[in-house]
Amino acid sequence: MSETPRWASESFWKKVAIWVTAGSFLILVILTFDTLEQTTAGGERVQAYSVINQNIDYQMNEKLNKFMPIIGGEELLFGKKYTEEEAEALVSLGKKTTQAKNCMNCHTLLGNGAYYAPDLTKAWLDQGWLSTDLREDQMLRFLMDPEKYARTFGTGRKMPNLDITEEEAKGVIAFLKWMSAIDTNGFPYNFTTIEAEVE
Ligand code: HEC
Repeated sequence: MSETPRWASESFWKKVAIWVTAGSFLILVILTFDTLEQTTAGGERVQAYSVINQNIDYQMNEKLNKFMPIIGGEELLFGKKYTEEEAEALVSLGKKTTQAKNCMNCHTLLGNGAYYAPDLTKAWLDQGWLSTDLREDQMLRFLMDPEKYARTFGTGRKMPNLDITEEEAKGVIAFLKWMSAIDTNGFPYNFTTIEAEVE
């Protein structure tokens, strides 16, 4: 009587299953730590919060063939130089405001949310703010009274007033400035809102 070959035995396949499971688990652990490192503020892709003290640009990198953030020299926000702790407090006030006021009901942030209004990931860099000198004042006015300062970009859609205080609006602007410095692998290039239905 011939013996069952080793590769066809039950014990062999049990061992294979155990090794494959253990290997996959290990890869998952490594990837988790890698993701944490890449998504924590202060790393290469996600800048430290104090980046709000600097000039931020987003330009096509011909070599990589994608848009990349360019962090320049000092460009203070609201004329103040924030320490890392102050910057973190302001950015997180802004982030909490976007959560409390449910901005994702209409907008996307880093691609998450609804497609009714423009993606906010690079809103800080929107040419629509006319001039970089006036940008933060314009954003502040807009956020505190978006109905009055609506620009609508030809969509006819307006943002409703959300009763945002000046402090919250400043936080949102700091949050948006910080977010614009994130290397998003080119996003949101070519990403637009859903077309308005013809009425
Ligand atoms: C009910 C839908 C709605 C909600 C909720 C909403 N927005 Fe908007 N938002 C819009 C629309 C529509 C526009 C484009 C029209 C305009 O700019 O006047 C806009 C424009 C903007 C812009 C300008 C974008 C650019 O690229 O210039 C910013 C910044 C912004 N919203 C921030 C926010 C923040 C922050 C929140 C939450 C606190 C929020 N929005 C909540 C509808 C909304």
